Amino acid sequence: MAEREAFDFSGRVVWITGAARGIGLTCAEAFHARGARVVGIDVKPGTSLAKYARAVELNIADPKAVAAAGAELASDNLAPDVLVNNAGITRDGVMWKLQTEDWTQVLDVNLNGAFYMMREAVPLMRSAGGGAIVNITSINGERGKFGQTNYSAAKAGLIGLTKSGAREGGRFGIRVNAVSPGMIETELAADLPATIRDAALAETALGRLGATEDVANAVLFLASPLAAHITGQVIRVDGGQYM
Ligand SMILES: NC(=O)c1ccc[n+]([C@@H]2O[C@H](COP(=O)([O-])OP(=O)(O)OC[C@H]3O[C@@H](n4cnc5c(N)ncnc54)[C@H](O)[C@@H]3O)[C@@H](O)[C@H]2O)c1
Repeated sequence: MAEREAFDFSGRVVWITGAARGIGLTCAEAFHARGARVVGIDVKPGTSLAKYARAVELNIADPKAVAAAGAELASDNLAPDVLVNNAGITRDGVMWKLQTEDWTQVLDVNLNGAFYMMREAVPLMRSAGGGAIVNITSINGERGKFGQTNYSAAKAGLIGLTKSGAREGGRFGIRVNAVSPGMIETELAADLPATIRDAALAETALGRLGATEDVANAVLFLASPLAAHITGQVIRVDGGQYM
């Protein structure tokens, strides 16, 4: 298949969570630029999603709200060909100081939210004969990180969800993969103390932190027919930060 054809998402419906800023916004832009009908989902959609096929204000950690949104999108002819589970939060702290809410909120959004979205998307993809799901995990879910027991646990859980989802979806033409970024230059990273940014930079083999486009490129590839025989995989986009 020609490269241009493979990355043509004309008419394809792409649900993206956490689409209002950062990595999610760059993914939304990338699919929109390639003809997709983007459904931008965010708890704070703002104005950035207005130009897409649909902007949905939704807290993905609320299972009833996710079910209602899924049903509404399906009835509006916006059943997904692609789902990008990107929404995520951090509430960092060493475990002996971590409040119960810091633990549950991070699990609720990063892991449970992705499950609720997949539970809506998969039956719709089955009916349509297939689809692609890309979950945004993190290298800190693979290697662990001081001060991030909640986040690491959620992101590691997302990898398990990805692999089991791939096994369940495979026979229906549904591929499920994960992208595992290292530190990416977003608003969040810009606010980090210089020592933490410098330590991450020093870990990279390529000598730079990632851009949101680096992550979006991997998402596009995994959602495209060029990845037709790839499922259940975790692809790191980290400049060699963790290897
Ligand atoms: N930035 C990094 O360095 C980095 C590294 C590894 C992994 N990641 C992961 O990439 C993803 C995106 O990160 P980012 O840096 O772009 O984050 P960000 O904070 O810039 O954007 C996250 C978006 O998700 C939305 N969101 C938060 N909670 C939500 C909820 N309950 N329901 C719906 N939307 C919600 C926010 O409103 C925001 O628009 C996250 O899953 C993050 O864990 C980021």
